[in-house]
Amino acid sequence: MPSADYILEARNLTRKFGEIAAVQDLSIGFPRGQLHSILGPNGAGKTTLFNLLTRDYPVTSGEIYLKGERITRLQPHQIAQRGVGRSYQISSVYLGLTFLENVWLAAHGAERRGRTGFWRPISHYREAQRKSEQLLAELGLDRYTHTPAKAVSYGDQRLLEIAVTLATGPEVLLLDEPTAGLSSRETVRVKDFIESIKSRYTIVMIEHKMNVVMEISDFIHVMNFGRLIASGTPEEIARNADVHQAYFGMDE
Ligand SMILES: Nc1ncnc2c1ncn2[C@@H]1O[C@H](COP(=O)(O)OP(=O)(O)OP(=O)(O)O)[C@@H](O)[C@H]1O
Ligand SMILES: [Mg+2]
Repeated sequence: MPSADYILEARNLTRKFGEIAAVQDLSIGFPRGQLHSILGPNGAGKTTLFNLLTRDYPVTSGEIYLKGERITRLQPHQIAQRGVGRSYQISSVYLGLTFLENVWLAAHGAERRGRTGFWRPISHYREAQRKSEQLLAELGLDRYTHTPAKAVSYGDQRLLEIAVTLATGPEVLLLDEPTAGLSSRETVRVKDFIESIKSRYTIVMIEHKMNVVMEISDFIHVMNFGRLIASGTPEEIARNADVHQAYFGMDE
């Protein structure tokens, strides 16, 4: 039985690539409305965990539950439809399109997958455009509504990428290294942005930058060699000797 405490939960999850278990007997749960971060050295299995939660990869064994429903064997689009949105470690926005066009395409694509017919009355497209404009305004990105993605900084492109994911209407947002490759100034912008949307979503964030993780997480999980080695509040994780050993490779 899934736990009533969590909107998204994995039980005894294992994913093997040949002999190597990238994720090994991992159980983890995310309560609705919180921001949980996943830390861990390169190759720890963090992105693989996301790939399992979204079913981009099939699990070797274990179960995944979303809002009390077992989703382990659903297709990726079915999981997206049920409210799990994901941004990727590598940027996936269309650089030649404006912010509005990027968000509109994502919203439209999500809706198309949910219905049978393709052709809609023109009013439907206007409504989709209005919703996309509204989302950009809510996210504080409306100054870029008609700006092509290629004309803004890499940091702003990362914000657009999150907006594109939000356009699909998720309840749970999975972010894989949202500040990767950003300067410290841009990192602060993305951090502030995630903090500003935090109350509206359940967020799971893979992130290496300690200042980001420590400042905005409600809870932190640390992975190493495919397993969870610690879970706790930022204060608890900061004090945890195993985490220092695994993550920083030193005893303190
Ligand atoms: N498609 C795949 N085929 C084979 N091995 C894979 C595949 N995806 C991941 N792995 C292996 O699984 C392990 C975990 O990789 P994963 O990408 O999940 O790590 P990560 O914690 O996200 O690392 P990073 O911080 O570098 O992004 C690594 O040993 C990796 O080589
Ligand atoms: Mg990764």
